[in-house]
Amino acid sequence: MKILVVDDDKFNLTIANDFIKKAPIECEVILCNKPTEVQRLMEENKFDIVLLDIVMPKMDGIDVLKQIRANSEYDNVQILMLTSLTDSDSFKKCFENGADDYINKPIKEVEFYARFKAAVKTRNNSLMLKEMFERIKKQNKDLKQLNKTLKDTQFHMIQKEKLAAIGELAAGVAHEINNPLGYLGSNLETLSNFVLRIQKMIKEYRDLIDNIDSKEKTIEKADISENILNIKDMEKKLKLNFVIAEIGEIIKDSTDGVNRVSKIVKSLQNFAKTGFDDEMAINDLNMIIDEAILILNCDLKSVATIEKKYGIIPQVLCNRSQIGQVILSLITNSLQAIRSQNRLDGEIIIQTFKEKDMVCCEICDDGPGIEEDILNKIFDPFFTTKEVGSATGVGLSISHDIIVEKYNGEFNVKSIPGKKTIFTFKFPVGKL
Ligand SMILES: Nc1ncnc2c1ncn2[C@@H]1O[C@H](COP(=O)(O)OP(=O)(O)OP(=O)(O)O)[C@@H](O)[C@H]1O
Ligand SMILES: [Mg+2]
Repeated sequence: MKILVVDDDKFNLTIANDFIKKAPIECEVILCNKPTEVQRLMEENKFDIVLLDIVMPKMDGIDVLKQIRANSEYDNVQILMLTSLTDSDSFKKCFENGADDYINKPIKEVEFYARFKAAVKTRNNSLMLKEMFERIKKQNKDLKQLNKTLKDTQFHMIQKEKLAAIGELAAGVAHEINNPLGYLGSNLETLSNFVLRIQKMIKEYRDLIDNIDSKEKTIEKADISENILNIKDMEKKLKLNFVIAEIGEIIKDSTDGVNRVSKIVKSLQNFAKTGFDDEMAINDLNMIIDEAILILNCDLKSVATIEKKYGIIPQVLCNRSQIGQVILSLITNSLQAIRSQNRLDGEIIIQTFKEKDMVCCEICDDGPGIEEDILNKIFDPFFTTKEVGSATGVGLSISHDIIVEKYNGEFNVKSIPGKKTIFTFKFPVGKL
C-alpha cells in the first residue's frame, strides 16, 4: 500500500508515520507538509490512501480534496481527513467533496487503526472489483471475438454445404432440364416438317388463284377442276388435316416445356442465392417446398414417393433461400435414410399447416428412424452417421440455427426406430 500523509504540522506527520509503520500491513509512506505539492506527488505516485489535514496555510485540505477528486483517475483512492474541527458543517463539506472518512486530532491509536484498517479494506475491495471488472471486460471482448470467429466459420460452412448441395443438385437439374429439352427439340423438328408441308400447300393454292385471276385466257372450268383435284390430292398426301390439328398441340406442349425449364432455373437461382444476404420478403412456404422438390437430385428422388399435404397457410416473412435450404436438408436426409435400406418404395409426407401465429412444416418418412441414444446428438455440428467423406454432418445443425436463432421458431424431431421419423419446424408469420 502506498500512503500519502499531508499535514503542515511535522509533529502530526511523525505520529501518523509511526502508527502506519506499526500497522501489520506493508506500507510505503510519503509525508508532505506543503499542500501545494500534493498534485505533483499524486501524479508521480500511485497512492492507495491519502491522510489529509484540513486547516493548512496557503491551501486548505478541502481545496486539496477537491483537486484530487477532480481527477477521475483517483476515484478509488481512499481519503481520510485529519481534523481537530468539531463543527458539523466542516464534516459535511468534507463528505460532500469526496472524503471517505476522518480521523480526529490529536491522533489516538485505537481510532487511527480502526479507521485506517477500514480504509485499507475498502481500497483492497475496490482494487479487486476493478481487477474483476477489467477481467470481465477482457473476457467479454474475447467472447465477442470468438462469437465473430464462430459466425464466420458458420458462414463458410453454410457456403461450403451449399456448394456441395448445388454440385449434387446440378446432376438432378440437368436431368430435369434434359427431358423437356429433348421433346422441345423433337417438336421443333416436327414443326419444321409441318411448315414445309404448309409451304407446299400454299404454293398450290397460289397457283389456283393465279389461274382464276389470269386475264389473258378464258378460264376453262375443267382446268380449275383439275387444279382443285390436285390440291385435294396433295392435302391428303401431306396429311394437312392432321398437321393443322397437331400444330396447336405441339405449340402448347413446347410452351409447357419452356415454362418447366424456366421454373427449374428459377428454383435453382433462388436456392443458390447466398443465405446470408438476409433479404427478407413475403413468401409462400408451399411454393418454397415445391421449388426444393423440383431441384432435388433425381436419382435420390427415385427412392421414394413424395406426398404433399399442403394446408391453407398465410404468406410468411422469410428469406427464400434460407428456408429452401432447411427443406432441402430435411428431404435429402429422409431420402438418404430410405436409400440406406436399399429400398425404392419409400414414402415421404410433407404437410404444412398454421398454428396460432406460426406456419408449420412437418416432414415424415418411413425410413429406418433414429435410435434413442443418438436422437439428442443429431443437431450437433458435424454429427453424422453417414460414411466418412459422404457427409459433413452440418445439415441439421445449420437448419436448426436458421429456424431457432434467425426466425425465433421451433425445430423438433420424433422418431420410432425401425418405423419412421418426423421432423417439424415452425416460425412466426412475421410482417414486412
Ligand atoms: N430422416 C432421417 N432418418 C434417419 N436418420 C436421420 C434423418 N435425418 C437425420 N438423420 C440422422 O442425423 C444425422 C445428422 O444429420 P445432418 O443432416 O445434420 O447431417 P448428415 O446428413 O449426416 O450430413 P450433411 O447434411 O452435412 O450432408 C444423420 O447423419 C443421420 O444419422
Ligand atoms: Mg443431411
